[in-house]
Amino acid sequence: MDRLRSLSKIMKIEGTPFGSSHQRNQIFLRFVAFFLLVGLAYRLIITNDSTVPPVTDVKSSPADPSGLTASAPIDSPRNINNASQNASTKCDIFTGNWVPDPSGPVYTNDSCRHIQEHQNCLKNGRPDSNYLLWRWKPRDCDLPRFNPDQFLNRMRNKWWAFIGDSISRNHVQSLLCILSQVEEVEEIYHDKEYRSKIWRFPSHNFTLSVIWSPFLLKADTFENSEGVSFSDIQLHLDTLDPKWTHQYPNFDYVVISGGKWFFKTSIFHENHTVTGCHYCHGKDNLTDLGYEYSYRKALRLVLDFVADPNRRAQVLLRTTTPDHFENGEWDSGGFCNRTVPFKVSEGVMKSEDELMRGVELEEFRKTQVKGSSSNIALLDTTSMSLLRPDGHPGPYRYPDPFSGMKVKDQVHVQNDCLHWCLPGPIDSWNDLMVEVMLNRDTEKND
Ligand SMILES: *[C@@H]1O[C@H](CO)[C@@H](O)[C@H](O)[C@H]1NC(C)=O
Ligand SMILES: *[C@@H]1O[C@H](CO)[C@@H](O)[C@H](O)[C@H]1NC(C)=O
Ligand SMILES: *[C@@H]1O[C@H](CO)[C@@H](O)[C@H](O)[C@H]1NC(C)=O
Ligand SMILES: *[C@@H]1O[C@H](CO)[C@@H](O)[C@H](O)[C@H]1NC(C)=O
Ligand SMILES: *[C@@H]1O[C@H](CO)[C@@H](O)[C@H](O)[C@H]1NC(C)=O
Ligand SMILES: *[C@@H]1O[C@H](CO)[C@@H](O)[C@H](O)[C@H]1NC(C)=O
Ligand SMILES: *[C@@H]1O[C@H](CO)[C@@H](O)[C@H](O)[C@H]1NC(C)=O
Repeated sequence: MDRLRSLSKIMKIEGTPFGSSHQRNQIFLRFVAFFLLVGLAYRLIITNDSTVPPVTDVKSSPADPSGLTASAPIDSPRNINNASQNASTKCDIFTGNWVPDPSGPVYTNDSCRHIQEHQNCLKNGRPDSNYLLWRWKPRDCDLPRFNPDQFLNRMRNKWWAFIGDSISRNHVQSLLCILSQVEEVEEIYHDKEYRSKIWRFPSHNFTLSVIWSPFLLKADTFENSEGVSFSDIQLHLDTLDPKWTHQYPNFDYVVISGGKWFFKTSIFHENHTVTGCHYCHGKDNLTDLGYEYSYRKALRLVLDFVADPNRRAQVLLRTTTPDHFENGEWDSGGFCNRTVPFKVSEGVMKSEDELMRGVELEEFRKTQVKGSSSNIALLDTTSMSLLRPDGHPGPYRYPDPFSGMKVKDQVHVQNDCLHWCLPGPIDSWNDLMVEVMLNRDTEKND
């Protein structure tokens, strides 16, 4: 349970920057600086999104040539057209490994202005760059690289939405960075907290949304004006979050995901009654039903909603994303300083990630059995992400995290081994996303 509690705490990075009242203790004080950075500064930084300083001229290609001789086997050259035909039809594109790719990322911190401070590893001075030189290679086929021109052309007059937590935000920023190499976007909406946004690519009339709905369900969270939560989350297990369901008819394509917010302390409501809780320490004699219970209920509701034959959107359910804290958790000195991907045999899933993915697969399959699933597919990024312990910001969550610090103090710097550097491995999620979403679309229209 300790690990779960820790994980749910790091998800506070996503917007509840301060610990709940019972956590306000010494540890809390020690990390005030951290919380300020992830919480308040986050708001500021995001506020300034559109006024990023002018781009400076920095060499974008990753420096260390020794990285090119990394351990994984060199793959044969790819055949793009062939691969795109193969990938979705005959090949499990979610099973494979990472192979060296000297061509590097299609954008950098200089060419993309949509990277959030905390994931801007290049700008924040992460010293190694080998983590940029890999591409995902499905075992039985090749995966074409995301083509932003083609994508935007196919997206003319369409609306695409990402619904979820800060990992969804991480993902949408990756997509924005890739697309903005072709056409810069206009931000046309943001909510008060800069968590939900809408962008438009004017010359394609393509609209892209990210909707902050970490539980996907109706959830009452209690925060004061400074983001300090002062009461437990009230989670309505029989009601979807109207924030996304109200907008849903607008969307042509949707990528939806739940995740680690379900680890947080929460009180469950069903049919206007409190039915239990998760991690509530026996409060009010409530039964602790666990996060598996709430996550399963949430996914069931979501899948039944989106599978309704009257809804037109094409939907991907993205599976859980593993973290890579080693030797501790985010608040107990855990770090992720690896510089190369795992080999397949090294990727061992933590039990709660296994459990969440299990729930996802089971609920997804139920939808398929029900036979109304033609507009839903799985975006199973869990395994590919599991193999990338090297892809997280670690301490490089803000510029020069170690500046002016004695070596012995450096271990106390907060690490993020959950979100992903941009550019970084999460860019490859888009390759898979397009393969699954748009190839299926083609089949449907043909
Ligand atoms: C696809 O690739 C195979 C080899 O993998 C090649 O023999 C075939 O001609 C290719 N087909 C097309 C349409 O490119
Ligand atoms: C990008 O990162 C480099 C350091 O790698 C830095 O010198 C440069 O100023 C950054 N560019 C922007 C626009 O932040
Ligand atoms: C495409 O599929 C065929 C048959 O499964 C296979 O022989 C071929 O190697 C695949 N091509 C690519 C590029 O993956
Ligand atoms: C732009 O796209 C939206 C759907 O996303 C559509 O409702 C609207 O009519 C389009 N505008 C034009 C000028 O085609
Ligand atoms: C919800 O509660 C009402 C009244 O308490 C009850 O009549 C009804 O059967 C309940 N519905 C479900 C689905 O449990
Ligand atoms: C919880 O259960 C105990 C023992 O049954 C009882 O004494 C106590 O009043 C209960 N507390 C609440 C808040 O219901
Ligand atoms: C990661 O950090 C640990 C503890 O500081 C150290 O022992 C290890 O050598 C580091 N690994 C890499 C790849 O830097």
